[in-house]
Amino acid sequence: MTFLDLEDSVAPLEKVAARSKVVDAIRDLDWGDRVMCVRVNAWDTEWTYGDIIEVVGNAGPRLDEIMLPKVQTAAEVVAMDLLLTQVEKNCGLPVGHIGIEAQIETTRGLINVDDICAASPRLETIIFGPADFAASMEMPVLTGGVAIDEYPGDHFNYVFSRILMAGRANGLQVIDGPFLKVREPELLREYAQRTRVLGYDGKWALTPDQAAVLNEVYSPTQEQFDRAYDILEAYRQATETDLKGAVMFGEEMIDEASRKMAIKFVTRGERAGLTRSAKA
Ligand code: GLV
Ligand code: MG
Repeated sequence: MTFLDLEDSVAPLEKVAARSKVVDAIRDLDWGDRVMCVRVNAWDTEWTYGDIIEVVGNAGPRLDEIMLPKVQTAAEVVAMDLLLTQVEKNCGLPVGHIGIEAQIETTRGLINVDDICAASPRLETIIFGPADFAASMEMPVLTGGVAIDEYPGDHFNYVFSRILMAGRANGLQVIDGPFLKVREPELLREYAQRTRVLGYDGKWALTPDQAAVLNEVYSPTQEQFDRAYDILEAYRQATETDLKGAVMFGEEMIDEASRKMAIKFVTRGERAGLTRSAKA
């Protein structure tokens, strides 16, 4: 997924002029088969409705999603859904064409995250915004979304888990936000393990170098893929041929829960182009 920004990376005096630039970029550049998204301004500004009317109204069917930042309540997602429906009707797009990605990056947003994740069938993805979240919490830091050495543990662990649970309970993709030290790829690799290991689907890349690191981090290794693949094979043999629900796989017992864990590795690995390596 690629998103073009109208929110915090655009200066207030450029907000209105940026809309047509975004529309032209979506219409004129070759984006291949990427999912295309535009981040509009949050509902607490004066720009949100104009962003939607101008961008969704003119970008055509190549635009797939809108990202709504600083979502605080489920009502904000519902309002976006209703506005999108009207704009889609007026510009000849099928109703429901535009999906929504919601950023959780305020304390109120986190408190309401369960309701937010269930607010609209257009929702596809929930995203953690560490920089705004640190500001909203009034954390004594100057860079959001990096490790805090004085903190004994991971200061965002609760937040990561909370958002992941709300997202998964509603069948959403769950994504971690930006890593602002853009010249530190190895620090990014290390930091990204926190959400990868919990189960996040990915993390924002601000540069092509960050994208290369993150594609590696969030894809299973060949070894993990092979093991998951073999678990699925063994489990299929057990349940379909031997009619057993639980069997030994090497030194471990596997059952239906093992299949559920393994399937995620195999699907992700296949998406990253992996196939089962030749057995020794
Ligand atoms: C992203 O928008 C962030 O605030 O971290
Ligand atoms: Mg933000």
